[in-house]
Amino acid sequence: MEAVANNLRGDYARAGPDYVLEQRWDDYTQEDHALWRRLYERQRALLPGYACEAYRESLARLDAYAAIPKLEQTSRALKLATGWTLVAVPGLIPDEHFFAHLSERRFPVTWWLRKPEEFDYIAEPDVFHDFFGHVPMLFDGAFADYMQAYGLGGLKAARLDALKMLSRLYWYTVEFGLLKTHAGLRIYGAGILSSGGEVVHAIDSIRPQRLMFSLERVMRTDYHIDRFQDTYFVIESFERLVSDTAGDFAPLYQRLRALPAIAPDEAVPGDERQSAQP
Ligand code: PHE
Ligand code: FE
Repeated sequence: MEAVANNLRGDYARAGPDYVLEQRWDDYTQEDHALWRRLYERQRALLPGYACEAYRESLARLDAYAAIPKLEQTSRALKLATGWTLVAVPGLIPDEHFFAHLSERRFPVTWWLRKPEEFDYIAEPDVFHDFFGHVPMLFDGAFADYMQAYGLGGLKAARLDALKMLSRLYWYTVEFGLLKTHAGLRIYGAGILSSGGEVVHAIDSIRPQRLMFSLERVMRTDYHIDRFQDTYFVIESFERLVSDTAGDFAPLYQRLRALPAIAPDEAVPGDERQSAQP
């Protein structure tokens, strides 16, 4: 496989036509595993009172603290729980391949781990973000169904030239989503859960707006990829997220295409602000 773009750092030469590669767990170094433990420990300590229950329970059961996990081992447990499996990939892969994997309940996990000097921030997703951030949520039945539906929706959006609108949905749910609970707002988005600074910012900071999820509002909202979010969207439940996104998006895409985008920090009429406290 040729690289997706030659500025990505993964080993694309080793991947198959579906971008999958063997994990070759022995190729990780002791330094990689030590850095994994430091990342894991810092992040895990941040989560009580911030991450949603489904995430925290699955993370604890995964027992992935000691070393970079063996994907095949996690896949066996995940397969039993929700029918998903994990595959190793060199890094970011082209949209249509990513969607195809999701549509078949396979989650692509980047092979490599960041360098120690990238402890707090990296621009590309690595195995820590992909595994620590995304994998625990795949053990939740409704969320697992949502991810597959998203993959199918991605293949369709590509045909309809609507990937920009659909990617905002991924961003504001799978990566940066918040969940309303009886104890207050909790995080389920992987981009927050794997970030050293954003966990607290997303819940406690007075700066960002936290708005009730609205499919159309989300699909129109631009986002920052290089700093903490200005707006988070709050869902009622994962079941509700599945039902809110179950309809045919084709007419929606057509209607929203004509409307202007909403800036990341903008407030618009109809926004329902949510308090982080119950
Ligand atoms: N219902 C969407 C469509 O018709 C598919 C989808 C479901 C997309 C869930 C994202 C999330 O395109
Ligand atoms: Fe991610």
